Amino acid sequence: MTVGALLNKYQKEAEYHTVALLLGELLHCPFLTLSLRRDEELSDSLLQNFYHNYARLRNNEPIQYITGKACFYGLEFSVSPEVLIPRPETEGLIELALQFIPENAKVLDIGTGSGAIAITLKTLRPDIELTATDISASALKIAKQNADFYNCLISFYQTDLYPTTEDSFDLIISNPPYISPSGYAKLDIRIKNYEPKLALLAEENGLIFYRRILKEAKSKLKPEGFIFLEHGDEQRHNIIRLAEISGLETILIKDDLAGYPRYLGFKKS
Ligand SMILES: C[S@@+](CC[C@H](N)C(=O)[O-])C[C@H]1O[C@@H](n2cnc3c(N)ncnc32)[C@H](O)[C@@H]1O
Repeated sequence: MTVGALLNKYQKEAEYHTVALLLGELLHCPFLTLSLRRDEELSDSLLQNFYHNYARLRNNEPIQYITGKACFYGLEFSVSPEVLIPRPETEGLIELALQFIPENAKVLDIGTGSGAIAITLKTLRPDIELTATDISASALKIAKQNADFYNCLISFYQTDLYPTTEDSFDLIISNPPYISPSGYAKLDIRIKNYEPKLALLAEENGLIFYRRILKEAKSKLKPEGFIFLEHGDEQRHNIIRLAEISGLETILIKDDLAGYPRYLGFKKS
């Protein structure tokens, strides 16, 4: 069977583009140039791989786990079911934080997962010193692989939120787990069946990590230091209250591109 004949089989499917991406991945061929190879014969083993991956797709597995790759901020990250697939909303968190990072700053990324936030920041701002933490050893393994791929020097720690070092930071950034137990039960099966629960679920109505991060933030920030957080749609006011209880000043309240409340910034003043 040729590339063109295989693609024609799926022409009418809603998932046509995803199918083409799967095939392009096996052929090491960018999606846009696939049409130039329509007459090429596909080997039996390649077809077998394709049908295997297609079955995974039909089983609602995210394409990023099938290909092992996810795009974030124009970079490609290795991903596996041990890490959350980095989301476009998180690119917005990076955009905002970038405006506040002083030169040669020390920055901490809490709950780094694939390393998407830390590595993107280090790539865009080689002057800064990055520390990244995660409680999951397997997530950190992927984050380190990604950091090595991009030649990023980042200090990774397996720990519960903050590193146990005496360091203090000019800026802390985090996209912690923030789905409440009731919200988790209602998640799309594409997420619930495949993405790590550890990366999503948060007790105390989704607020536990904000409470814990903000409680310690003042002692971990340098004077005039900043903390930037991504959060869920209905958490904004509770998080602002937690930050104010911890003695932090609210400096930024922003929605994401879809118009949902998503980002908060605080300052130690
Ligand atoms: C929502 S994911 C964010 C991953 C990545 N930063 C991103 O934005 O794509 C949250 C991450 O926090 C980690 N995590 C969960 N509990 C933690 C804890 N107590 N301490 C440190 N990291 C934790 C999870 O393993 C997961 O990688």
